[in-house]
This record gives sequence, structure tokens and C-alpha cells, in this order.
Amino acid sequence: MTEDADADDATGTDAAGTRPGGDPRDGTRFGTRAVHADGPADPATGARAPALHQTTSYEFPDADTAADRYALEDRGHIYSRISNPTTERLEDAIASLHDAPAAVATASGMAALDALTLVLAEAGDTVVCSNDTYGGTTTYLRDTASRRGIDVEFVDTLDVDAYRDAVDDDTAFVHVETVGNPSLVTPDFDAISAVAHEHGVPLVADNTFATPALCNPGDHGVDVVWESTTKWLHGSGTTVGGVVVDTGNFDWRAHDYPEVAGPNPAYPDTDFSEYAPDAPLAAAVRYRSLRSLGDQQSPFDAWQTLQGLQTLELRMNKHCENARIVADYLQEHDDVAWVTHPGLDSHPTHDNASEYLDGGYGGMIAFGLAGSEETPGPAGYAAGKRFCEAVDLASFLANIGDAKTLVIHPASTTHAQLSPAEQADAGVTPDLVRLSVGIEDPADLLADLDAAIASATTDDAATATPATDGGTRGGDGA
Ligand SMILES: Cc1ncc(COP(=O)(O)O)c(C=O)c1O
Repeated sequence: MTEDADADDATGTDAAGTRPGGDPRDGTRFGTRAVHADGPADPATGARAPALHQTTSYEFPDADTAADRYALEDRGHIYSRISNPTTERLEDAIASLHDAPAAVATASGMAALDALTLVLAEAGDTVVCSNDTYGGTTTYLRDTASRRGIDVEFVDTLDVDAYRDAVDDDTAFVHVETVGNPSLVTPDFDAISAVAHEHGVPLVADNTFATPALCNPGDHGVDVVWESTTKWLHGSGTTVGGVVVDTGNFDWRAHDYPEVAGPNPAYPDTDFSEYAPDAPLAAAVRYRSLRSLGDQQSPFDAWQTLQGLQTLELRMNKHCENARIVADYLQEHDDVAWVTHPGLDSHPTHDNASEYLDGGYGGMIAFGLAGSEETPGPAGYAAGKRFCEAVDLASFLANIGDAKTLVIHPASTTHAQLSPAEQADAGVTPDLVRLSVGIEDPADLLADLDAAIASATTDDAATATPATDGGTRGGDGA
């Protein structure tokens, strides 16, 4: 008996490698579901890896079916701006990792935010958003959604009364980040979701920093989850993408969300809460936002991200482990003024992180270097910039969540277009260095950080010009 034949006997697969018995994603633990997230083998060919359906369109078998598809009465594919079999595999995979009924993949994390905002908010509405938010989200809500007549009110992330004061009849949704970028603040989900739900408003969470490996926001009162798959979900820094996850928690029919429940403005014969009762928001995102905004994810990108998902649990474990080693090291370093990481007792929201994250505190660290007295400007600002130039193993770039360690100095880059007050509200101090800890051998990482800190904090290091005026208001570099 060959090894293959043996394996077939043991697993009960047929010649095509398919498992009539069911889907290994059902009832298994998170790590197993992640490895099998890309679904079963293709019954027609036996191909174990998912096929890449790089196609724009799908032949209609006949004219009546074509008409039915456009009327949403037949659920077959029409055009890849709306749906695609490979992208659908990623959507199923990510939904499964969130124990959610459905997800919709988008071209980027920002496209996910755009797609969900389009269906939840209209001119005259307000979004209530926590302060500790990725600069791109701040800019989108403040400067882009505002062009469509949607206002934003930012509130102190940890001040539950501030949410209560801000939410009113015009509120379309409340928005928080599971772990804020870059302050690493974790909100009190239970308290904030209670406030949102008292007013019949959904809670939306950006879960990019945690990923479903560390937090399933749907278990904590969150109604809509979105993530940038560009980061840890993919994990290798090759592919920009995003996803909107419909947790199925919110009763859209009980509240006024005309795009999600009731005769749809664009499909008058369709009510998404009847068409897709378990996940009407996902249906609305697909047939309204993807269809009209072109926010969809390309099949090739989805195919790439499916590969990353397989190692999600393994990578997140290592990111968390390494981040803790690096945080401990930085805490002991004489030239480090401060360090923050959700796993440290000293982090202001360590208790929230312990309550809502499971399996680790993520791979992100923020720290400030002691400023040199010979360098003009805010303490640590120039040292932060020099540190980013001095790292060797780590890469100085805008992304986070790669297998490789990444660094950036937000005050001079990602958050440079925010005013000093806005930077302060977002937790961006002039000296803050953001460190996305990778999965390298930690000894090599510490050696690199040690050399870069030494280089950045010596008095004779080249001085950099600090932007003390904080720049102009506007976009976020990444
Ligand atoms: C927390 C967070 N959310 C969303 C985004 C946006 O994602 P994308 O770059 O995929 O559009 C980023 C990007 O850095 C981010 O850090």
C-alpha cells in the first residue's frame, strides 16, 4: 500500500480528495479552522488549493437566468465587481474565523470602511468615533465622509459618558478600534455597545490589530467588524485588502437602516433583511457598495490572502511572544523614555485588553526615546526619526503586521497632517516610534534595536528638523 493510499483510507477521502463527510472548518478550534480556511478540495479536479478565477464575467446559461440574476432572484455570479468565486472563498474563510454568517472582501481596509459607511450613513447623519483611531479613519470620517454630508464626532475612547452624550437620533453608527493605532488603547466594548444599543445604533469595530486570532468583537456586542487584511491576516506584506464582517448581531429591521432593511432604494423589489436574513448588512455592502463604488477585492489578491490565513494562529502567537520580549527589553533600556504595549501592566487599558483579547496582546509596541539635549525641538522627536533610519534588520516603512519587523515615526509621517492637538488626541506624541514586531528570532531583533537606539541617542548624531507646527490638516500618508 502506498503512503497516498494509506492516507486516503485514513481520511476517508475519495479519488478527487474531497471529503463527503463535511467541512473541517465546522466545529474545530481556531488554529485548525485557519489552516483549513481556504475550504475543501475542488470536487471536479481534486485540486487541494483554491482555484484562482481570474475572470471579469460569467456566462449566462439562458436569458431568463440572466434576467433573474440581475433581479437577485438567481444567486449565480454576474460580474467580478460584485462577486467572484475565489474572492468568495476568502469571504467564507474570514466569516468562519469570526463565527459570523457572512463577510465581504474589499480592495483595502479603507474600502471596507467606505463600503460599510455607504450603506449605514446618509447625508445628515453622524458617526460617533473613538479618538484612538487610525489616522486614515480619522481623515476619512472628518474630510471624506463629510463631503457626502456625514458628520463625525470624536469622543474620548475611554469616556463612556462621552459616547452617551454624543449618540442621538442622527447617529448612524458608533466606531471603535479593538486596539487603537498607534496608542494601543482597547475600549470597553461591553459598556460602549450598551450605549449604542440603548439608542438602536450598531457598534462598528476596526479589528485590524487584533485579528480574529486574538479577538472576536462579535462576542462583545460589536455588530459590524472590519479589518485591513493587508496586515496580519495576510502577513507577508504583498497584498492590500480589507473585509467587512456582518456578525449577524444587529436587528436591522427594528431600526431605520433603509439600505439594509426594507425595500432597497436601488432594488425596490428586494429587502436585504428578507433576501439574506442572517447577514443583510453583508448583502447590502455587496449589492450597493461593491456594485456602485467598485470597492471589491480582486480575485488574485483574495487568492494570496487565503494563503496567509493558513498560518494566522501560528504567526499571531509568535508576534505576541516576540512583542512581549521586545517590550520587556525596551522597559529596561536607559535611553528609552517610555514604552507601551497592551500586555504591560503599565498600559492604561491593560485590563480591557486582558478582558477582550484572548491568546496574547498583539504584535504592536509604541515607545519614545529620551531626547538629546543638543537636538532642538520636542524631546525625542529627532531621536525617533533617527531611530527609524538606523534600524537594519527592521524595515522603515508605513505598513504593520508583516512577518518582518517594521518601524515608523508617526508624528513626522502617518500623522504629520494632523494638528498637534489632533495628534495628541490620537495618542501620537512627538517622540512616539511605532514598532510592528515581526516573527524573526528575538535575539537578532534585540541586537538590531540595541544598535539603532545607540545610534539614535548619541549626542553627535545628525540632527533632524522637527516639525513643531504639526503641519496642515489633511490626509494620512498610509
Ligand atoms: C488600524 C488600521 N485600520 C485600517 C487601516 C487601513 O487599511 P488599508 O491600508 O488596507 O486600507 C490601517 C492601515 O494602516 C490600519 O492600521
